[in-house]
Amino acid sequence: MEVVIAPAEELALLAAGHVDALLRRRPDAVIGLATGSSPLKVYDELARRHAEDGLSFARARGFMLDEYVGLPADHPERYRTVIEKEIASRVGWAPEQVQGPDGLADDLPAACAAYEAAIAAAGGVDVQILGIGTDGHIAFNEPGSSLASRTRIKTLTRQTREDNARFFGGDVAKVPTHCLTQGLGTIMDARHLVLLATGRQKAEAVHQLVEGPVSAMWPATIMQMHPHATVLIDDAAAGRL
Ligand code: GLP
Repeated sequence: MEVVIAPAEELALLAAGHVDALLRRRPDAVIGLATGSSPLKVYDELARRHAEDGLSFARARGFMLDEYVGLPADHPERYRTVIEKEIASRVGWAPEQVQGPDGLADDLPAACAAYEAAIAAAGGVDVQILGIGTDGHIAFNEPGSSLASRTRIKTLTRQTREDNARFFGGDVAKVPTHCLTQGLGTIMDARHLVLLATGRQKAEAVHQLVEGPVSAMWPATIMQMHPHATVLIDDAAAGRL
């Protein structure tokens, strides 16, 4: 695992650089997309390179990590909507070039299986962008998640719902209770993992990720087993290393 400690703006440039290099080498690459605040500057930089440096996403595809269950299609915090706004629409992606788990499906287990099949049919994810929750979750794999898990329904922990309440007007009651998420096994199949974490609130999770024992109680620690993982953190997030 490669750990880089740098100011937040540089981390975003480094992460965007990985995606940029991949796309110039393989224009039909598959990019794994994360939501949350951590990747936002990366998406800004990719949009800038698309607009100003001719970085083409025309043949590339995106696969989302996770989705809330039950948020209406037009809800601004539905992850599909967030990804459309923050990255897809800015790099010229048509809706069919981006896929995510369907949190509105009548048959959620079938939607999870279909999503796994779609990722496999695309040839797997080339580079997966990741954030990390304060409890060490990646995507929505909360503590206790099987290290071999695949896309499935999960219950969100109280802590994650409180962390994410800021996106729902600060009201934890408005945060959905369930989600669909790629499993840790699904994420580990990606060929390159690029995780971003900034701020003191992430220091304990980053400590566990980099220095802790591999454990389902800190799900991100599975990344220690990945042959190509890059961890991009600022000084504050590195505060417990
Ligand atoms: C959410 C997302 C994760 C994300 C995490 C951290 O729970 N499902 O994919 O990594 O939050 O979010 P942030 O980057 O806003 O701290």
